[in-house]
Amino acid sequence: MEAACRATAAVHLRLALVVYLLATGNALLAASALSDAEASDIARRQLLSLREGDGDLPDDFEFDIRVDVTFANGRLRRAYAALQAWRRAIYSDPKNFTGGWVGADVCAYFGVTCAPALDDANTTVVAGVDLNGGDIAGYLPAELGLLTDIAFFHINSNRFCGIIPKSFSRLSLLHELDVSNNRFVGGFPAVVLDIPLLKYLDLRYNGFDGALPPQLFDKDLDAIFVNSNRFVGVIPENLGNSTATVVVLANNAFVGCIPRSVGRMAGTLDQLVLLNNRLDGCIPPELADLVNSTVVDVSGNALVGTLPEGLVNMTRLEQLDVSSNQLAGAVAERVCKLPALANFSFAYNFFTVEPVACMPSVNSPVALNDTSNCINGERPEQKPSTECAPVLAHPVDCRTNVCSRGPGTVMPPAPPKPTHVPTTPVPKAETPPAKKVPTPPAPSQLTNNSKITSDSSTSEFATPTGEIPSTTGSSY
Ligand SMILES: *[C@@H]1O[C@H](CO)[C@@H](O)[C@H](O)[C@H]1NC(C)=O
Ligand SMILES: *[C@@H]1O[C@H](CO)[C@@H](O)[C@H](O)[C@H]1NC(C)=O
Ligand SMILES: *[C@@H]1O[C@H](CO)[C@@H](O)[C@H](O)[C@H]1NC(C)=O
Ligand SMILES: *[C@@H]1O[C@H](CO)[C@@H](O)[C@H](O)[C@H]1NC(C)=O
Ligand SMILES: *[C@@H]1O[C@H](CO)[C@@H](O)[C@H](O)[C@H]1NC(C)=O
Ligand SMILES: *[C@@H]1O[C@H](CO)[C@@H](O)[C@H](O)[C@H]1NC(C)=O
Ligand SMILES: *[C@@H]1O[C@H](CO)[C@@H](O)[C@H](O)[C@H]1NC(C)=O
Ligand SMILES: *[C@@H]1O[C@H](CO)[C@@H](O)[C@H](O)[C@H]1NC(C)=O
Repeated sequence: MEAACRATAAVHLRLALVVYLLATGNALLAASALSDAEASDIARRQLLSLREGDGDLPDDFEFDIRVDVTFANGRLRRAYAALQAWRRAIYSDPKNFTGGWVGADVCAYFGVTCAPALDDANTTVVAGVDLNGGDIAGYLPAELGLLTDIAFFHINSNRFCGIIPKSFSRLSLLHELDVSNNRFVGGFPAVVLDIPLLKYLDLRYNGFDGALPPQLFDKDLDAIFVNSNRFVGVIPENLGNSTATVVVLANNAFVGCIPRSVGRMAGTLDQLVLLNNRLDGCIPPELADLVNSTVVDVSGNALVGTLPEGLVNMTRLEQLDVSSNQLAGAVAERVCKLPALANFSFAYNFFTVEPVACMPSVNSPVALNDTSNCINGERPEQKPSTECAPVLAHPVDCRTNVCSRGPGTVMPPAPPKPTHVPTTPVPKAETPPAKKVPTPPAPSQLTNNSKITSDSSTSEFATPTGEIPSTTGSSY
């Protein structure tokens, strides 16, 4: 396993470079680096070489521990076995986070938090692990499934590769799993759906691919971050089953409609971030049922038609971004005057009507952006009529419009492409400037709903836009 991970390290660097280039929209350089098909092929080969069984542990698993090491209790002894196995699965630790991981006192290990067991206040157990920002290279051994007392597992911004082992389903108290900004590959890690108490799932900035399983939205999660991976296919139709407060699917390759069930999240959803995918069709009117949400970002897709009239009912909305789509018609004055609105971009669309209240102005309480639309008259930086006319000649009727792929149709991964073909989505009509290049995620922290916290988490939860404040700088 170790050798397999190391052997692919050079590939990882290349892959990371491509991810960076794609993120910055530098299609030319990306094209000469590595195609989707190549990257996917590398990922599959890496999986094959890494996978020993499915990463699960035998039920009677016992670890061979040196006789001269004694433990306060059996649970700490198991934790020791897990942490030592993990230490052996680490082959680069530039910040020496695990240099002190020796001896029986696992509670003194850097990044390890101990606490009284929930079921026995007299027994000290390992309650969490946090190696955020370690730049550590290695993989996750199946033995980590022995850490059955942990409530959080944070390994944000490292270079862990391979898969999330099946044995993670044994982590029956785990509330927070943050593996963001690493080098995990393969399909959606289905094992996370089997972690019974999981609330915070953060898979961002990895190399996961394939479709999202619908079960993701039936699970009782508080936060779902799967942005900046290589996910494809439609957003499962049961999206609206989710009770999460934050759903971030940005920067993947999702196609098809925004599921109409989206409105069913009205009771819980605070932030919906779908930017930079390949979604099409009209914005479903049900989106406007999210009357208590503060952030909605559907920018950078291929959405058509007009804005749902119901947007005027979204009185808590602070950030609305519909930019870089193919939307047309009018921007409603009442939307621009929504009481909580701070930011509203409708740039890079085909809107023709803009009330005064929607015009960007230094005096406006709202940061508005109307660049590159088809607004006649005084507005600067609009599209030329040669670009507007053909689109506006064929207005989309959202009552009859269907999007390219009906919900439930799961796309197979993209077929292999010749290596010299650029793999960034080809912009329609024009090239909007690369926007919102996401920064690598910062250490996760708890949402208000959760009760356990980690000392070394340093940053806030997601910013309102779903972008993540970076405390670690780019490790790609
Ligand atoms: C790493 O940490 C260990 C324990 O704290 C220490 O003994 C060792 O010298 C450190 N190694 C380096 C290279 O700093
Ligand atoms: C914990 O330890 C105290 C003192 O040793 C003892 O009185 C108590 O019964 C113990 N509690 C449990 C749950 O074992
Ligand atoms: C999720 O939604 C689907 C329809 O979209 C429904 O059939 C299913 O029963 C829902 N599941 C749960 C757990 O609510
Ligand atoms: C929105 O929030 C208000 C007040 O917190 C609540 O009364 C209302 O039911 C919520 N709306 C929905 C659709 O959940
Ligand atoms: C706004 O909400 C009210 C009350 O739910 C509803 O009657 C009305 O039709 C909505 N407005 C629009 C434009 O959808
Ligand atoms: C609007 O959003 C941009 C980024 O999308 C951010 O830089 C700016 O601070 C936001 N402005 C307000 C008023 O929230
Ligand atoms: C409008 O948004 C575009 C990107 O969508 C950005 O390049 C431009 O600077 C923005 N203009 C203003 C005035 O914020
Ligand atoms: C979350 O907690 C912070 C600080 O305790 C508080 O200001 C904020 O209102 C809470 N948010 C929600 C949605 O409960």
